[in-house]
Amino acid sequence: MDILNKCLWQRLPWIHLPLSLCRDVPQRRCCQATLSVAPHPARLRQYVCPTPSAHESRRLQHPPMKAAVYSRYGPPDVVEIKDVDKPHPQDNEVLVRIHATTVSAADWRMRKADPFLVRFMNGLWAPKKIRILGMELAGEVESGGKAVTRFREGDQVFGSTGFKFGTHAEYACLTEAQLATKPANMTLEEAAAVMFGGISALHFLRKAKIQPGQKVLIYGASGSVGVFAVQLAKHFGARVTGVCSTTNLDLVKSLGADEVVDYTREDFSQAGRVYDVVLDTVGKSGYSRSLKSLKRGGFYVRVGGSGRLLPMLGDILRGMWISATGKAKVIGGVAHSAAGDLPLLKGLIEAGELRTVIDRRYSLDEIVEAHRYAEAGHKKGHVVVLPQQTS
Ligand SMILES: NC(=O)c1ccc[n+]([C@@H]2O[C@H](COP(=O)([O-])OP(=O)(O)OC[C@H]3O[C@@H](n4cnc5c(N)ncnc54)[C@H](OP(=O)(O)O)[C@@H]3O)[C@@H](O)[C@H]2O)c1
Repeated sequence: MDILNKCLWQRLPWIHLPLSLCRDVPQRRCCQATLSVAPHPARLRQYVCPTPSAHESRRLQHPPMKAAVYSRYGPPDVVEIKDVDKPHPQDNEVLVRIHATTVSAADWRMRKADPFLVRFMNGLWAPKKIRILGMELAGEVESGGKAVTRFREGDQVFGSTGFKFGTHAEYACLTEAQLATKPANMTLEEAAAVMFGGISALHFLRKAKIQPGQKVLIYGASGSVGVFAVQLAKHFGARVTGVCSTTNLDLVKSLGADEVVDYTREDFSQAGRVYDVVLDTVGKSGYSRSLKSLKRGGFYVRVGGSGRLLPMLGDILRGMWISATGKAKVIGGVAHSAAGDLPLLKGLIEAGELRTVIDRRYSLDEIVEAHRYAEAGHKKGHVVVLPQQTS
């Protein structure tokens, strides 16, 4: 027994562990240690763990939280709910208790490593850098670092972690610049579903140099990006045609589209209409149909598309060739937020010009189902996940 030193967990005095285990294993393992015979009360002191205060302070500083973690690429059920350390804010960061987040196309694409390029960013064989998905959130400020000036405990906020992900959890840390106070006229659930679609739509409409009076076709007007693209194009003064399926016609009209085309019944390129911008959010409009519907020199914006490497390369080369000939300007790439985007979106929401569309809600325990539904490619607007709720 000399080589073993007893560890007494303060709240469970009958637990003991070898010292080596007590020091080396994470504190939670220590708490869950196997039981042994309780020491005689008179000898309790000698059983006290040599470092209980270190353990206790670590537990207090990094208590566990629930998060949806994935440790291999694959189908929805690679995502598991686990206890992980609660994050601790750096000096310039805010710790947010997450009330709502979303499962977006970026999440299921990262999970599946689709496109393959994801593996170069997040680990070739298995996800390394990012193990908790989720890009957007709304919730309540729990604490802030020393340098935080704009937010206080209890503030209701919304924002995005961007490509750091990490919002499929009970808590996340974000910098002040990644957050804004929740729009007064939105619930936390609605506010959580602003950033992914809103920033993407804003980025690509700007790339297309959208102008008042222009004719803009939004192909795939009912998804996360589409619902914001329709509303933002209207905000910029464009005349908007939305392409969607029969069930979403009323939704897209209600977002402000001047015309809607039901892609299950009509080919948008056959109606003889010509646009200044064709913005395809789902990668299904096709080059020939889109170019046929564009003015010479108009913008063909390809937001989404196949994740397969060869078709992707083919599309990029084709786009470069078309742009070089001057027939159309083909835009692609990855959306990112610019300074001022977050306050701009918030202002438009409060002015009643932007709203979110929520299709389904899931608890964190149901995240696998949420991934499955989002990946099917037929959601209307957003799929929201509520980390503080149990199923
Ligand atoms: N490049 C970037 O930076 C960037 C940024 C954001 C997103 N993306 C990509 O853009 C794509 C779309 O993202 P998202 O979040 O908007 O997807 P989403 O929310 O999953 O889009 C689903 C919507 O697309 C509609 N849809 C499906 N097939 C259609 C078709 N043939 N014609 C018209 N509409 C169709 C569906 O409606 P129905 O089923 O009723 O038709 C559904 O409402 C994803 O591939 C994503 O990876 C890229």
